[in-house]
Amino acid sequence: MVAGKKILLGITGSIAAYKTPFIVRELVKAGAEVKVVMTSASLDFVSKLTLSTLSKQTVHDQLFKEGAWANHVELGRWADLLLIAPLSCTTLSKMSSGLCDNLLMSIYFSATCPIIVAPAMDEDMWIHPVTKDNMNRIREHGCKVIQVKHGELASGLIGEGRMAEPGEIFSELQGFFARSQQLSGKKVLITAGPTQESIDPVRFISNHSSGKMGYAIAEEMAGRGAVVTLVTGPVSLRCYHKGIQLVKVKTAEEMFEACMSSSADYDVAVMAAAVADYTPLVTSEQKIKKEGPEMSVKLKKTSDILNSLGRIKSKHQRLIGFALETNNENQNAIKKLKDKNADMMVLNSLNNEGAGFGGDTNQVRLFFKSGQQKDIELKPKTEIAKDIVDAINELL
Ligand code: CTP
Repeated sequence: MVAGKKILLGITGSIAAYKTPFIVRELVKAGAEVKVVMTSASLDFVSKLTLSTLSKQTVHDQLFKEGAWANHVELGRWADLLLIAPLSCTTLSKMSSGLCDNLLMSIYFSATCPIIVAPAMDEDMWIHPVTKDNMNRIREHGCKVIQVKHGELASGLIGEGRMAEPGEIFSELQGFFARSQQLSGKKVLITAGPTQESIDPVRFISNHSSGKMGYAIAEEMAGRGAVVTLVTGPVSLRCYHKGIQLVKVKTAEEMFEACMSSSADYDVAVMAAAVADYTPLVTSEQKIKKEGPEMSVKLKKTSDILNSLGRIKSKHQRLIGFALETNNENQNAIKKLKDKNADMMVLNSLNNEGAGFGGDTNQVRLFFKSGQQKDIELKPKTEIAKDIVDAINELL
């Protein structure tokens, strides 16, 4: 929990900054050590004196003062957690684009600790496509996000964009520290992304998987202290957590080999990859030339990784599969759960808008061996990953 933790609170220019003394007070009362860094825009909304009194620490707001340099690296290294609350649209854009023009941004770009942000904006700013892109980018960079709330906004309008209340932010931080060691000592094997099956040196068979769901689960697992091996097909994503070992593969066969070599070693395996079910019987060494009005490629079945792991799984191991379906979704997911001897199946239905391949959101249904089911509503894949990992943790 937060007691004994060192928390660096970054405050940016938003009306919600007036709530930050309550965050500081709650954290200090619970036994955390809190240091505050303010952007110049935030100084108009809340006083340094209030924050230094409540935190019992000097409040920092400048990179240089009277010829002296504020050691941003030291502040970033000191913290167990950097909380940026409220996160304004301007600071979000700096975080997303790499604009390092104040003390808080210098700390952000050099911080080695986890980072949680609590955005606060008017609804029109919050739903703007650029804001959405920026939020997705900082999520991909490893920032955890405390969701904005619906309610009255500074403009007087009612909508999405309110910063979470200080009590909610405090609970999120408590939860974060409680979870951070939840999976320590556990070894996790995850597959993600598509595979590519070559027809010739130029063409391949693949699918639309972006790998986002698998990568989000890998980040979440590592964030909870697990040692993660992520076997990934070709995707354009990056891993940010140091606890993730990346194994890059191209074909279903390579993914199979990589997983089988860890088959005795994992506590949890999450098969989120969209593995090709068939691969060309032969791959032409030369580019196939265009001839005649039709052509066909003979395919052979690939090895089913989930199924193979299910057959040799030992008692302590937990196996999680994904089922991407377009029809008879529930029946198909339950059948896969049983046939592949998995402990949990995550159903993605392509019929749900905002769910499935490519996008940043998902909506899933979890099926358990016990016969239980759990629905997880439409939300960012990083948030879905939390729910999936919570469910896996219960299985352990
Ligand atoms: N899977 C796997 N190896 C394969 C094919 C699938 O490990 N060669 C895994 C996927 O990673 C996923 C689960 O099996 O966790 C279900 O994949 P899916 O493609 O939905 O099902 P299939 O068993 O391939 O059946 P179908 O394509 O007929 O629906």
